[in-house]
Amino acid sequence: PRDAVRNDEGELTLGGVSVSALAAEYGTPLYVISEAEFRTRAREFREAFAAAFAADDSGVGAEVDVYYAGKAFLSTHAARWAAEEGLCVDTASGGELAIALAAGVAPSRIGLHGNNKSEAEIRRALEAGVGRIIADSLDEIDRISQIAQGLGVEAPVMLRLTPGVHASTHEYIATAHEDQKFGLSLTPAVDYQRSDHDDAANPYLGSPAWMAVERALDAPGINLLGLHCHIGSQIFEAAGFEVAAGKLISFLGQLQQAHQVVLPELDLGGGHGIAYTEADTPRAPREIAEALAAAVRTACAEHGIGIPRLSIEPGRAIVGPAGVTLYSVGVQKDVVVEDGVTRRYIAVDGGMSDNARTVLYDADYSAVVASRQITGEHLLSRIVGKHCESGDIVVRNVYLPAAVRRGDLLAVPATGAYCHSLSSNYNYLTRPAVVAVAQGESRVLIRRETEEQMLSRDTGYAP
Ligand code: LLP
Repeated sequence: PRDAVRNDEGELTLGGVSVSALAAEYGTPLYVISEAEFRTRAREFREAFAAAFAADDSGVGAEVDVYYAGKAFLSTHAARWAAEEGLCVDTASGGELAIALAAGVAPSRIGLHGNNKSEAEIRRALEAGVGRIIADSLDEIDRISQIAQGLGVEAPVMLRLTPGVHASTHEYIATAHEDQKFGLSLTPAVDYQRSDHDDAANPYLGSPAWMAVERALDAPGINLLGLHCHIGSQIFEAAGFEVAAGKLISFLGQLQQAHQVVLPELDLGGGHGIAYTEADTPRAPREIAEALAAAVRTACAEHGIGIPRLSIEPGRAIVGPAGVTLYSVGVQKDVVVEDGVTRRYIAVDGGMSDNARTVLYDADYSAVVASRQITGEHLLSRIVGKHCESGDIVVRNVYLPAAVRRGDLLAVPATGAYCHSLSSNYNYLTRPAVVAVAQGESRVLIRRETEEQMLSRDTGYAP
């Protein structure tokens, strides 16, 4: 975070609070989130997209809603920060929805995702009056329709399509990435492809996406708002978003021709990348927004439709860089890995239970000694956890001072997204607290799990 600085003694401070004070008060491992960084990033997205899509000289433009993707990290406070910065909140389960509602986020500014929502989740969302449910399958359209009719409400629905663009980091591969569990494919079904018909004019006829739109338009209890897609994660460049937007806009154009239906909204999902290490160079929100706005304006003009109300769903890019994990150094050992190269293994008091990303995705992180500034020789080091497997690595490769010793605090930056939310009780470790820092103050967002809470799930456990 931008408010991480060393004090005169060389100790790292986060939001004006020293790491030793945080460790003393809350223990380690500890997730620390800079409220200012979270808010700044939320605002950057909102302002960048609002500016890029604002009416141009000829009066053409669109409103943009930024949904904070709660799966990256959700707590009632974080949901409130997002809402106070003018963002909506995207949820992916009944549990996330419950937190967003408990935070007091206006239901009309909450979306519900999920490829296999339960009836209870759909019902809960409709009863709460959420602004949109993103339907993921033909089957789900029917289910939402039924439940909405039972409740006597109109369900606001977006349809998640898979436009065949898969973007990751700085590359995008414009080949079919429809072979996945999410969303409705734009490729006509095999039966349809084999049948005798003339579809030269509409390449989407016979596709699950086209069938879904027709079904949703006809279904009682459903108000079809628009189309959604999410093309991947940790995306650095605008190109993938531009290609995906182009496809969905061409789909909207076909729909207008075939059915004279104007769908008012288009959501391009999340996936905006962040820097985990210095090697990562993501574009700023403003650059993505401007490139995307230009592409959307061109595509809409080409297909003869107005610019739909746009939305995006960044999660990682808002909370990721705002978070730092603090660990205490335990045992160390040196291993000669090849001629003349020694790797130091530094074990900390957490591991893959609080950061599964390194082992799950081969993710890279960096780390610094946070409790003091150490100069002198640095060694190739690997930060590992305390779990019973050799893959339990937090930071694969990082140069750390040779003088690191037991009790030093290490800080691993860029851990605000998908670390707490993917955390587990592997080996019966309790899950760490999440603490927010701002202007020299700290407060607990999520309490550290106690051993009692964790073990009491075992029906035979008696302390
Ligand atoms: N919208 C939808 C529909 C999504 O599926 C996702 C992420 C997002 C928004 C937010 O994506 P973000 O902006 O945070 O990249 N656990 C993985 C990431 C899984 C992302 C799944 N969907 C990780 O730690 O990298």
